[in-house]
Amino acid sequence: MSGEKSLLRILSCGSVDDGKSTLIGRILYDCGILYEDQLALLEKERTSEGLPDFSCLLDGLLAEREQAITIDVAYRSFRTATRRYLVADAPGHEQYTRNMITGASHADVALLLIDATRADKGLLPQTVRHTAIASLLGIRDIIVAINKMDRVEYKQSAFALIEEEYREKICELPFRSVYCVPVSALHGDNICHKSEATHWYAGPTVLDILENWEPVNATSQPFRMPVQWVARQGDFRGLAGTVVSGELRPGQKLVVQPSGVTATVRSLASFDGNMPMAARDQSVCVQLEEDVDVSRGDILADEDVPLDVADQFAARIVCLSESALVPGRSYIFRHGTSEANATILSLSSCLDLNTLCEAPAKELKQNDIGSIKISLSRPLPFAPYNENQDLGGFLLVDRVSGNTVGAGMLQYALYRSHTIQRHNFTINKAAQATQKNQHPCVFWFTGLSASGKSTLANLAAQELYAAGRHIYTLDGDNLRHRLNRDLGFTMGDRAENIRRAGEVACLLADAGLIVLASFISPNKEERAALRERFESGEFFEIFVDTPLEVCAARDPKGLYAQAVSGKIPNFTGVSAPFDVPDNPDLHLDGTKKPEELLVQLMRFIMTQV
Ligand code: ADX
Repeated sequence: MSGEKSLLRILSCGSVDDGKSTLIGRILYDCGILYEDQLALLEKERTSEGLPDFSCLLDGLLAEREQAITIDVAYRSFRTATRRYLVADAPGHEQYTRNMITGASHADVALLLIDATRADKGLLPQTVRHTAIASLLGIRDIIVAINKMDRVEYKQSAFALIEEEYREKICELPFRSVYCVPVSALHGDNICHKSEATHWYAGPTVLDILENWEPVNATSQPFRMPVQWVARQGDFRGLAGTVVSGELRPGQKLVVQPSGVTATVRSLASFDGNMPMAARDQSVCVQLEEDVDVSRGDILADEDVPLDVADQFAARIVCLSESALVPGRSYIFRHGTSEANATILSLSSCLDLNTLCEAPAKELKQNDIGSIKISLSRPLPFAPYNENQDLGGFLLVDRVSGNTVGAGMLQYALYRSHTIQRHNFTINKAAQATQKNQHPCVFWFTGLSASGKSTLANLAAQELYAAGRHIYTLDGDNLRHRLNRDLGFTMGDRAENIRRAGEVACLLADAGLIVLASFISPNKEERAALRERFESGEFFEIFVDTPLEVCAARDPKGLYAQAVSGKIPNFTGVSAPFDVPDNPDLHLDGTKKPEELLVQLMRFIMTQV
């Protein structure tokens, strides 16, 4: 439709009974329009018209759907004479924050409801949290509909009390505009029509604000497109994806990131045939002149204005996990169409919802908004979230459960990764292995304290040594005296302990050695990350399965007695968990005699080395 304004994406937020659906329903009713089809329409837009792609975070959402985890975000669409609207409605149940974040990706305006009947009870923490998250996610305009005015006799005082408290609370957040509107969604006051009942209110109606909304900046952005998949058919090779910023035309020079290879665009196509140009939000299949190496997850960018590439970042993150986010633990990092492994290096602070200031924090619990430093397993091209939501937004996924545990926004690179390089030394792992005439690998013993891990590792080491093998015995207790002496036994410290130990084991294997490593390693997430760290056939998990009662009865260091009496906190098996390995490479019954177990162990080891 010519002259139609740009699509407006609204995030509606508020608690269950605040009247969100009634308000949107009221807009439709007063305008005499109906909802267009819901999600089906969104899907259609994504593919054919190439309209809104709630990519990045929605991609995460869709991926989660595939894993049969339901997130209740309803996308509804309608059209007035002025423009089209897409409303992301995240229902306010216990998973609210998570739903809101998923829905908020790319929203232009937040529509927040506050119940006027609660005027004297003060703002709800979640009202402040939702406002903070909306701001964090880059929403610049917020409409606060103070609802149920009919139930407070349309009193200006009730409205003013809430407005004043709200504005004072959120004044530090960088919104472009904050509108407070007294409404009754039920009766239609100030939704589409000015209300007679609130003659003291001179501002616009909710619909006025929506219809007059203009984008913040329409300045031209450099071209960027994450490659979603590489389509091949005979000689044809097309790079399919959605343009997230800028424009693309045949003949344009591109750089493929992170590899840095350059190429020229031959043609652009959509499902309907060739395109002269592709712009933001459009899905396109790009054919290049050169046969350069491109794969899913790469980003095509303007040759003259490439993205920065880095592997360590400062970021903001919202914790979506029921359990706390653990610094030191390795998570899957989902960014656009690519993935990497990520570790939270440190937690700088957490947003205090009372003051909206950053406060020091030791951990991030569900719904907390924190500032973190994060490290990736490989460098990725990125843009800060406030410049580009698609290339600056990311999700953290638990590698064992597959759940999304955090939604984050990249702020800046901690250093440009190209300042640190990798040297390839001539005497490498292969050379070391040849010299020692063995297959370097790591046997990782896991089990409770006093289960017999170190004893077995020690016996195996002696046999291997006697057989002329080159070995190293790596042990939790020993490492904690020096390298890991700054670490205790919290979840985070143990994650870091295992990460460092894993890195040391990796170096020792690089030196051509057979490594026997004994660490309680109680958490399945860390053990899964360890396995990923090594090539296949290089890492073997050996579970020394000794029941707690047996270990506690052995108690060689007297630790169980102290743990039971409360003198040692976080003691594995007593006051801290041990996740029983699901699928160890070797399962040893720790109640058997060591000599008997050694036979079983050596039989296994000798088939691998
Ligand atoms: S791990 O959990 O991080 O893998 P690690 O194997 O390095 O632990 O160290 C375990 C050793 O530390 C135990 O054998 C025991 O001697 C000692 N220790 C001291 N406090 C604890 C504790 N709270 N829980 C478990 N082990 C402890």
